[in-house]
Amino acid sequence: MRPTITALTRVAAILFASGIVAPAPAFSQEQTDGTFIGDVPYVATPQDVVDSMLDLAKVGPGDYVIDLGSGDGRLVVTAAKRGAEGFGVDLDPKRIAESIENAKKAGVSDRAQFFQRDLFETDFARATVLTMYLLPDINLALRPKVLGLKPGTRVVSHDFDMGDWVPDERLRMRSAVTHYESNAYLWIVPANAAGRWQAEGGDALRFEIAQTFQQIKLQARNAQGPLDISEARLGGDKISFTADGRAYEGRIDGDVLKGVMRGGSGDAPWSARRVP
Ligand SMILES: C[S@@+](CC[C@H](N)C(=O)[O-])C[C@H]1O[C@@H](n2cnc3c(N)ncnc32)[C@H](O)[C@@H]1O
Repeated sequence: MRPTITALTRVAAILFASGIVAPAPAFSQEQTDGTFIGDVPYVATPQDVVDSMLDLAKVGPGDYVIDLGSGDGRLVVTAAKRGAEGFGVDLDPKRIAESIENAKKAGVSDRAQFFQRDLFETDFARATVLTMYLLPDINLALRPKVLGLKPGTRVVSHDFDMGDWVPDERLRMRSAVTHYESNAYLWIVPANAAGRWQAEGGDALRFEIAQTFQQIKLQARNAQGPLDISEARLGGDKISFTADGRAYEGRIDGDVLKGVMRGGSGDAPWSARRVP
């Protein structure tokens, strides 16, 4: 669902008035005048915050970075300078023209593309890293689509969170460019781990996972009865937990989980299936 412009205009006005969103003077000399095309005003992320956001997401060669509402293109251009590829979309044709020029100047036009397009009509399924500097309502409106991305996709947002989807990491910093405080949030898109699982072969291990975003709670039992569970974690498609002193690690692929069980008489391959 697309948020209403009235709500966004109000949020933007509050943010500007309170100084939470501050116009950044670097890179582009544009200052925001409060009028804007689309759902979010143009405010550039300071370059040192851009660098930290890309560090937080560990962007490098092999990554495909998509910036939603890409402004003057700095996120995608900086990522391309690190060897990644990607594209940015922005509704404002002036911003797109600047971005193309900035990519050219940086010598990365072959790896950084820009399109004048509505972010709500953009297919960003290809992203290994998704970046944004939007507004809280917009992040929330995008959230269902973001959660549908390939497990393990990294999502970085400047200044605004995703409601009750707790970030995997959060970085607070004061930009040396603008002297304003910035927050960068990182989420790793989690696999769907919820439900009942039955281990194949061996000790008749069964377990049930309750999942809230990337946070999981796990209950398990085997033929002998309930097991003591600790350290249950989900990171993208990787799951790990300890059951009665044995460490289980694995990767979820649809309704199949495959991995290694450590402990007892050494490492052993291990697999489970989701059951109705
Ligand atoms: C806060 S700026 C962020 C620019 C850039 N991502 C950065 O961090 O420096 C938000 C940008 O989103 C663009 N925008 C707003 N609504 C949009 C929409 N519906 N689709 C595409 N771009 C949009 C604006 O034109 C603006 O350039």
